[in-house]
Order: sequence, then C-alpha cells, then structure tokens
Amino acid sequence: MNKTINWGIIGIGKIAEKFASDLATIEDAKLTAVASTSIDRATAFAQKHNAAHAYGSYEQLFEAPELDAVYIATPHSLHHECTMLCLKNKKAVLCEKPFAMNEAEVREMIEEAEKQDTFLMEALWTRFLPTTKKILELINEGAIGDVKTLHADFGFIPPYLPERRTLNPAFGGGAFLDIGIYPAFLSLLILGYPSQILAAATLGPTGVDETTTFVYKYDDLATASLNCTFGANTETDAIIYGSKGRIHIKKKFHESQEIELIPDEGEPQTFSFPRTTFGYDYEAREVNECLRAGKKQSDLWSLKDSLRLIHLLDMTRQKAGISYETDRSF
Ligand SMILES: NC(=O)c1ccc[n+]([C@@H]2O[C@H](COP(=O)([O-])OP(=O)(O)OC[C@H]3O[C@@H](n4cnc5c(N)ncnc54)[C@H](OP(=O)(O)O)[C@@H]3O)[C@@H](O)[C@H]2O)c1
Repeated sequence: MNKTINWGIIGIGKIAEKFASDLATIEDAKLTAVASTSIDRATAFAQKHNAAHAYGSYEQLFEAPELDAVYIATPHSLHHECTMLCLKNKKAVLCEKPFAMNEAEVREMIEEAEKQDTFLMEALWTRFLPTTKKILELINEGAIGDVKTLHADFGFIPPYLPERRTLNPAFGGGAFLDIGIYPAFLSLLILGYPSQILAAATLGPTGVDETTTFVYKYDDLATASLNCTFGANTETDAIIYGSKGRIHIKKKFHESQEIELIPDEGEPQTFSFPRTTFGYDYEAREVNECLRAGKKQSDLWSLKDSLRLIHLLDMTRQKAGISYETDRSF
C-alpha cells in the first residue's frame, strides 16, 4: 500500500476544477485543502471535491494539518509569488504552465526549492501523457529516420473578456505564453534548444499577442515551424517529419490520445491511448511517485528542462516584440 499523498490547491478557476476531478481518480492521492481569494468559493469547491479544509486566503493553506503537495492554478503572473509562498512553507509544488512570467522568476523559484530542499515541478502535463512517451520511443528507435522538420500549431478564439487572464497584460495574457508554450515545448523536446530563432507577432486591442508565428533552426540539421493564435480556430495538430516518414499527433496535439506513424515505405500504424480523465492525472501521479521516492524534481521534466523552456520563451518573445511589465532581463 502506497503512502497517500495529500494535495492542496491554490487558485480555484477552470483548470483547478479539471485537476481536482482527475486527482479523484488516483487511488493513493487525496485533495485535502483548497485556498481561494474567496472563502465562499473555497467552501463550495471543497464540498464538491470532498476536501476537508477550505481557506479564504492562500497564506492560510499551510494551516492544513496534512499537506504534502500544492497545485498552483492561478494566472501566470502569480505563479512566482504562489510558488515562493509554498516553498518557504516547505511544501512540494506543482505549478501550472508557464512556470512563471520569465527566466528571472523561474531562477528564483528553483533557487528557493534548492534552499528549502523541497520538490518543485512545472505542470507541463503533455510531457507525462502516454502519447508523448510513444513519440519519443518511435523517434529513438529510428521509425521516421532523422527528424528534418516539425510543424505544430495551436489556435482557438477565446471569449472577448479583456479583464480576464487570457487577454489581460497584467496577468501575462496573450496567445504565446498561454498556448504557444505547447509548440515551443514540443520542438524543445524533440529537437533540443535551437541555434536560431525567428518570430513575429500581431497584437490585439488589449496589447497582448493575438497571433505569434515562430521558426526555430537547428544548425543545418532541422527546422520547426510553429504557430499560436487567439484569432482563429486552427487545426491544432502537429506533424514531425523525418527522412523515412512522419508522425502525426492528432488534434489537439497537446492533449492527444492518438498518433499515427506514416513511414515512407510500409503501412501506416495508429497508436491509441484512450482515457476517461482530462489527462492531468499523469502529471499528478509523477509528483506522487517522486515524493514517495524522496526526489526533489522529476527526471521526465526536470527543473533544467523548465529553465531551458522559459529561456526559449523569453528569447522568442524578444524576437516577436512581446513584453510585460514583469520583464527584468530584456
Ligand atoms: N495545463 C493546462 O491544460 C491548462 C489549461 C488551462 C489553464 N492552465 C494554466 O492555469 C492557470 C490558470 O488558468 P485558468 O484557466 O484556470 O484561469 P482562471 O479560470 O481565470 O482561474 C484562475 C484563478 O486564479 C485565482 N486568482 C487569484 N488572483 C486572481 C486575480 N487577480 N484575477 C483572477 N484570478 C485570480 C482565482 O481563484 P481564487 O480567487 O479562487 O483564488 C481564479 O479563479 C494559467 O496559468 C494557465 O496557463 C493550464
């Protein structure tokens, strides 16, 4: 019998609902406490998800008698502050993507985790899905030869609510940090850190990027053509092209349950990984296993990986002209 991991949640919006529902499917994990800026919302959420404790401020969460890990689900601009709060209270952290607004903030979070000797992980949930593991396996065994070019896009039209986090610059709004992170992540995972970055963005009425198109070059070996937009409902799939075939990650590629291997010679093969959850249980299980093993970070998506990703996001934003008041380094 595994030790039960007791979870808390900070910030109870849309994604917290999905995470709590997926956490309930894990036999040896329990949602024990929730913290909101509203005690009424916290109480209602706790009742719905069977959490024993509800708090009307984030600072109070640490009064919960049993708390092993905290999932942070606030807008991007609060990730740094909320993570630092948990780490200073020596609580393991799973923090939503993007890990923070920029590299400087992420570095401080990692330094604090090391100082407190406490677990920290970015909730880059796509990394933990079985489809992602299968893609890496196929590429490593040479199923499509050498990867030559990768195409990924992510686009949808959010409701026009300028004060909400998706379009509000004060919360780190804009397509790139919210959904452009997925094509950037895929390229980083498959091809590594690029040798050259090209990027352009269109800005919407609130001043955040509506569409960002970016190209990564990998010496003279490979390229990636990537796109994200809040201006159109795009296909939101990804194709990895190699010298011997391709892998199609079916839409929406960041949460895919099916990939197709299409070799240049031979029959196509479909690999399906159906699930009944949203898919956030995989990242939660990874945290649970790391905590039971006494690890301070995940091997699958390490703090070094998160640092490389946020650096890539910063550099791409710089090229595209996307900036926020929180930017300190450029
Ligand atoms: N992994 C994924 O698939 C995925 C999907 C969607 C979003 N996300 C990430 O999760 C984070 C939250 O996204 P969401 O869609 O859940 O956002 P949301 O619905 O707006 O919820 C965010 C929550 O943060 C709290 N909050 C604290 N201060 C706030 C403020 N000043 N303004 C607004 N909210 C404030 C609120 O909860 P309380 O007041 O109750 O504390 C709010 O409900 C984002 O960073 C996003 O990138 C990830």
